[in-house]
Amino acid sequence: MPANSTDPGQLAVDNVRTLAPYVPGKPIEELERELGITDIIKLASNENPFGPSPLAIAAMQRALAETWLYPDGSGHHLKRKLAAKLGVDAGQITLGNGSNDALVLLAEAFLRPGLEAVYSQYAFAVYPIAIQATGATGVMVPALSSDSPMPLGHDLAAMARAINERTRVVFIANPNNPTGTWVDAAQLEAFIAALPRHVVVALDEAYFEYTGGLPLQNGIEWLERFPNLVVFRTFSKAYGLAGVRVGYAVSHPAVADMLNRVRQAFNVSTVGLAGAAAALEDLQHVAAAVGVAVAERMRVSAALERSGTRVIPSAGNFLLLHAGANARERFEQLLRKGIIVRPVANYQLPEYLRVTLGTVEQNDRFLRAWL
Ligand SMILES: Cc1ncc(COP(=O)(O)O)c(C=O)c1O
Repeated sequence: MPANSTDPGQLAVDNVRTLAPYVPGKPIEELERELGITDIIKLASNENPFGPSPLAIAAMQRALAETWLYPDGSGHHLKRKLAAKLGVDAGQITLGNGSNDALVLLAEAFLRPGLEAVYSQYAFAVYPIAIQATGATGVMVPALSSDSPMPLGHDLAAMARAINERTRVVFIANPNNPTGTWVDAAQLEAFIAALPRHVVVALDEAYFEYTGGLPLQNGIEWLERFPNLVVFRTFSKAYGLAGVRVGYAVSHPAVADMLNRVRQAFNVSTVGLAGAAAALEDLQHVAAAVGVAVAERMRVSAALERSGTRVIPSAGNFLLLHAGANARERFEQLLRKGIIVRPVANYQLPEYLRVTLGTVEQNDRFLRAWL
């Protein structure tokens, strides 16, 4: 800090001072205040418009009466249920305050200054933040070009070339946010199989449930073969529980042991634990929401493409559109019509907008406003 500076923020460590903060989607209330309009729809944060199962809501309501107690720090009940569903041991699961928290735990446990972590250009913004906060060096690998068969997607061959003896973690988002792109299962398998043993693979499957018929691998099936693989999943998307923050990592038990060492003892709330456990009892609710998203992904992409808007292929509950040089204006036009989508200029994609798939009615409203 310069001797005469009065800004106490300057006392923070260099790697934190130079961090670009995460930019969240615009909340509905903020737009209501700004424009004085109601009937706003938010298609900006890849939330599930159908919300959580009624079973989860009832369980969370019951859990409210217990919130004077600390939560079960081991998340025993939820982990047991997840383990049974996923076909793993409970000792392989690390619960997080959202999968974001679990990703940060991985960075804290496996990175330090002098080590490197590899990720793709346009990959989920939390990776570079989590890496840089540890003082490690983030190595961003250029994405596939916009005219490749998987435009803006991860270039696994280039990512493999970026790995060296200092690399400790490689992040793969499958599918990725904000692009929606995915990596081919056979290519991913070859990539992981060829990695040196000192590299941990963080395979982020936040949108796993939305795969539909697309050829994405279930990473959990590979855990026995690849002890250096860590798979991240969440209750925020298909389970409709983004607001209570529950996600998890599934890994080799020795990796889970390390993640647990840096995890805050009570990182998942009583309400979140109860809601997530109950949500697992209502997979029909999840399947119905996913069914709409997958069908709408095809319908909305086709409508956009027909009208001349280029859409990046997506395996998630959202679409990345090429809006052109006036993307910001188009974003603001939509706002004035009460539709919040997500500009992605912070991802160095200033000509694109990301639109979360809502209900059929919401998507129609977006299409009418867009076309
Ligand atoms: C690819 C990806 N990973 C992880 C997350 C984190 O989600 P959460 O912390 O709500 O589980 C998100 C959220 O948008 C995401 O898009």
